[in-house]
Amino acid sequence: MCGIVGHLGNQNAAGILLEGLKRLEYRGYDSSGLAVLQDGSLAVTKRVGRVKELIGAIKQAPVESTIGICHTRWATHGEVTEENAHPHLSSDGKITLVHNGVIENYNTLRSFLTSKGFSFSSETDTEVLCNLIAYHYAKEAETAEGSRFATSVRKALLHVEGTYGLAALCANCPDEMVGARHGSPLIQGVGREEILLASDVAALVSRTPDVVYMNDGELVHIVGNQFSLTTLDSEDIKPVINTVDWDVSEGELGDFEHYMLKEIFEQPTALENAMRGRFSQDGSTAKFGGLNITPQDLRQIDRILLCACGTAWHACLTMEFLIEKYARIPVEVEYASEFRYRNAPLDKNTLVMVVSQSGETIDTLAALRESKRKGYTTLAITNGVGSTIARESDGGIYQHAGPEVGVASTKAFTSQLMIGSILALYLGRLRDMSFNDGVEMVEGLKQIPSLVEKIVQLSEDIHRIAKKYVHKQDFLFLGRQSMFPIALEGALKLKEISYIHAEGYPAAEMKHGPIALISEDCPSLFIATEPDTLSKVVSNMQEVKARKGQLIVVRSESCTMPEGLADDEMVIPDCHPVAAPILASIPVQLLSYHIAVERGCDVDKPRNLAKSETVE
Ligand code: M6R
Repeated sequence: MCGIVGHLGNQNAAGILLEGLKRLEYRGYDSSGLAVLQDGSLAVTKRVGRVKELIGAIKQAPVESTIGICHTRWATHGEVTEENAHPHLSSDGKITLVHNGVIENYNTLRSFLTSKGFSFSSETDTEVLCNLIAYHYAKEAETAEGSRFATSVRKALLHVEGTYGLAALCANCPDEMVGARHGSPLIQGVGREEILLASDVAALVSRTPDVVYMNDGELVHIVGNQFSLTTLDSEDIKPVINTVDWDVSEGELGDFEHYMLKEIFEQPTALENAMRGRFSQDGSTAKFGGLNITPQDLRQIDRILLCACGTAWHACLTMEFLIEKYARIPVEVEYASEFRYRNAPLDKNTLVMVVSQSGETIDTLAALRESKRKGYTTLAITNGVGSTIARESDGGIYQHAGPEVGVASTKAFTSQLMIGSILALYLGRLRDMSFNDGVEMVEGLKQIPSLVEKIVQLSEDIHRIAKKYVHKQDFLFLGRQSMFPIALEGALKLKEISYIHAEGYPAAEMKHGPIALISEDCPSLFIATEPDTLSKVVSNMQEVKARKGQLIVVRSESCTMPEGLADDEMVIPDCHPVAAPILASIPVQLLSYHIAVERGCDVDKPRNLAKSETVE
């Protein structure tokens, strides 16, 4: 949700900034802009649309400077227009600012600044903050030039309510950049002859592996290739430089048409990576390096609360099923956005776990913080190495799925399911699960990557099926037990990338309402992989057929259908029950992908969405 890059070094900034911005486009893509300090004044270029529009504009009218900031926007305040795009420029032309977050008291500040003679050309909260910095800069005329700019940013932020990750430049300070963070991510890249700021390491790794993850309430003042990190109250902070291990080529598209397809095909590797080194030597249980909680303490846990948003919330629903089944620990799943405002009764033996691909989702972070504030032990499952959620939880498990660029989550989802399965095994073996059941489960898990490899090869068959359903406007996704969350995820995938209305339900719930939707125009996708409930699911399918509904079935090899019942089938291999949710997810992802592409949708950057929701 908005991406920021800043650069101060000795090379031309524009190319470096735009390369970084391209890598952050998944965070927002309705408009973008770039500002550099050129010949003593701030030159701002903005364009509506994708970053490529901005790149085109800079090609036509190149800028020359070694210092600059840029931004790709996901609109919060004000429509998608050039005026509302960042960077904003203060009305006195002194300050330019890029910002991710929401300034909640911007109306009050705007009235105050108007009374002081500042004017506004956009509807945004960011322009208000930009003018507020300029106001303080003017007031700080007595302060020595070396610290005047940073002091004015600091003073402005003390009057701000809301969230920000920001980078600012001042027309009078050709060698200075200021960044600050509260609630929205900001990371510094520390190169040999350059310092960068960005919302995500993805924008930095092609320049430097050395990064400083800023924490809330911190401000960085960069002067030349030196920087100082302080609190807003000017207390010095010793920066911790982390070296990130990130293969830049992992984030490239390669031969694939879309990141989403690439990431679907990367699932065998991502799942292998999620398992690597996590099984015990005797092959009956699991081990995790970073839980920071002893087996003894884990045995005392009598309840687990799982919190997440979107696709990660669906992963939690599957984890609930797995942990209750294999470890016999009661689990509850909450939307993080609801949990944070609810005073849910928890007891001291409750373990709170948050799940987030990015590790930066603001609602999930807030749920984590609220749980910590109340004294609960917290764990995080995240793909975001060094992310805020990873840093703030008591312990956690990294997914190691590699960068996920497509806005629609695919490999991160199945790798969360893999981590959840391994965790269920571990917790189960700490309690009642037998050695033999443990060994059988480990064997079942180890087979997953090769089985997924076979399923992705069905892509072209699924493409042919997809073509038949391209013009539908409604879809139902139905599954029972551990397939219910997969049905929910299937419906989310289809709606977010193809804009087809889709709903997920437990198959047996259909008759309590959704059956009213069934018609020739509303196909139903059933997931039938469990022999125990097969006859019931087949009855539900027959109810659909009796109402002229088309039936697409994802089934396992041994879950055979009555002749002629399904209009289309996608068959996955038989497997250990723990593997079924992962395996069943793949055809559902591929079907959504091919339908969306056939409809001409931009699957990697669906309308109105952003990959990482860092504002509430
Ligand atoms: O990074 P997170 O896992 O915390 O993100 C949570 C959701 O915003 C995310 O899963 C969203 O629902 C995706 N667009 C799903 O494809």
